[in-house]
Amino acid sequence: MNLKQQVSDLMTANRRSSNGHHYTLPSPDSYPYQWLWDSCFHAIILSHIDPGYAKQELLSLTKKQFKNGMIPHMIYWERPKKPTTFPVINWGLRDTSTLTQPPMLAYAVWQIFKKDRDKEFLKKMYPAMKKFYLYFLKDRDTRNNHLAAIINPDESGEDNSPRFDLPLGLPQVQTIDENFSVRKMLYRKNKECKFDASKCMYDQFWVKDVPLNAILVENLKNMADIAVELREDIDADYFLHQSKLTSYAMQILMKEDDLYWSTMGPRYERIKVKTWALFSPMFANILTKEEAKKLVKDHLLNPKEFKTKYGVPTTSLSEKSFDPNGFWRGPVWMSTNWFIYKGLKRYKLEKEAQLIKEQSLELLQKSGFREQFNPLTGEGYGAHNFTWGGLVLDMN
Ligand code: GLC
Repeated sequence: MNLKQQVSDLMTANRRSSNGHHYTLPSPDSYPYQWLWDSCFHAIILSHIDPGYAKQELLSLTKKQFKNGMIPHMIYWERPKKPTTFPVINWGLRDTSTLTQPPMLAYAVWQIFKKDRDKEFLKKMYPAMKKFYLYFLKDRDTRNNHLAAIINPDESGEDNSPRFDLPLGLPQVQTIDENFSVRKMLYRKNKECKFDASKCMYDQFWVKDVPLNAILVENLKNMADIAVELREDIDADYFLHQSKLTSYAMQILMKEDDLYWSTMGPRYERIKVKTWALFSPMFANILTKEEAKKLVKDHLLNPKEFKTKYGVPTTSLSEKSFDPNGFWRGPVWMSTNWFIYKGLKRYKLEKEAQLIKEQSLELLQKSGFREQFNPLTGEGYGAHNFTWGGLVLDMN
């Protein structure tokens, strides 16, 4: 069976409908809900299979948008009948979480639009998208410095990444359970400050993450493109301008020694842990061609850091925190491979991009649609029937 058919079958098997809302579970056994950035990945995958389904997936996301514009990172359309392998967190709300995730929505919408130029779909999505991006630009940037903050590591989508050890007060070497218990304490505190990002940020966990801001830069450009299509000219100028401001702020406040580091606290203290995040600015074209080439040569292709047999580990081999079976502390994930692939293509680094595609395909062949993969052996870990492997269809 060819790969497209396999992906299509997996997406069909994981698809659910609830009260007229359609969405795809990242993995029925481990993640039986709708997740924000997962759904954006799903839409990107489905745009190659059935744009109609891709649209439904994104429209469902907008149904649970908060009044302030935030779209929650989890929507519990239905509670699962069997217990899941992951604990369910009490967010204090009945049917959603109260955190968000990297804002990939505009990119996903634009990708679908490029396939079928359905303006009615853009019109349906636009009001919710506009509120969502304004939320990031305002509520998550209380000092107007043009970088968006997260109030919990889970908002990065990379729950236990070592980028967050320092702000969480955790040692570099730790267990998944230690990490989870500290994050659970933070969820409780998030609840106490009523999920008001401006309050939670100052007192508890205040991180400006590189991938999230790079994703914001790219998505604000997509918002500008969408606004042009809809003849919302003032919005188009505004979103493009905001994209440039965020890109510039990243250069000023995150860059040091030619690398982009996530920062913590009000003084933008750089968190100097080498993770795949170093490559994420390429996704949004933030680096010059020379910077990108040097980054790739010195780090991506460096066997002491990110060059392994099976692709790009999420954490550099040179870090004490590297663990090939450590969730976001080492394994290869298909989403990060996809972001890096897209970044390399932007800089016309074709050979390097092709290698990531081949390694991704090899992982799927060897270990199937698993959540993460050991970068040294290719062994699959975590959730089964996990959708993100479908992103290889978009490595083109
Ligand atoms: C894990 C991942 C997160 C993803 C979720 C559902 O928590 O860290 O990025 O959204 O699973 O797949």
